[in-house]
Amino acid sequence: MKDQVLVAPSILNTDFTELGKTVDLLDQSEADWIHLDIMDGVFVPNISFGIPVIQSIRKRTAKPLDVHLMIVEPDRHLEAFRDAGADLITVHYETCPNLHRTLEYIRTLGAKAGVAVNPHTPVESLRDVLEILDLVLIMSVNPGYGGQKFIYQSIPKLRRLKQMMAEENLNPLVEIDGGIGLQNAEPVVKAGVDVLVAGSSVFSDPDPASVIHRLRQFSKSTFFV
Ligand code: DX5
Ligand code: ZN
Repeated sequence: MKDQVLVAPSILNTDFTELGKTVDLLDQSEADWIHLDIMDGVFVPNISFGIPVIQSIRKRTAKPLDVHLMIVEPDRHLEAFRDAGADLITVHYETCPNLHRTLEYIRTLGAKAGVAVNPHTPVESLRDVLEILDLVLIMSVNPGYGGQKFIYQSIPKLRRLKQMMAEENLNPLVEIDGGIGLQNAEPVVKAGVDVLVAGSSVFSDPDPASVIHRLRQFSKSTFFV
């Protein structure tokens, strides 16, 4: 794990009539990546936004775009997401019957390849693809909506993932997504997380840039007081 935790704000629960301003705010903040939640109304109950929106965001910022695909049959759209400007593409374990092929395809497109696991999916299911993974995303809520309560079981799950990574001597980045804020970032980072996704905790605050700054203070050795 890198000592400095990365922060990837999610724009899901922002006012999309103000999208340009939101992107400018993030662009000028210390946000490391911008997390974009793509939902199809099939894999998850909600529908969010798609490729044209990513294209517009890409024109407005050089920050890495961390695209979280909560869609069935993601392979059909991977090239389009890459062309739209995705730097990291994360698919869900639960949507990929040929996960190894999907991950290799993402890498062939020149993007970083990530896999997300729902709260009910054991991290042990990833052991045989760890080697071709750039990122593992632990869902700490059931995907579909921002603003949900953090599932505490995610912390022992993170520890099991880190244990498995150590056994295999492999080191993909570990990202956590759902219900993350200043109140629970410390135990999560201590459990070995490299990237914090934060949506409502950032954007419900009158000063989102300050929350991003404070979330970035959490590290293995130094904690925000
Ligand atoms: C949930 C999404 C999350 C969500 C995070 O399905 O994957 O990225 O936007 O929002 P908060 O931080 O509000 O849980
Ligand atoms: Zn997400």
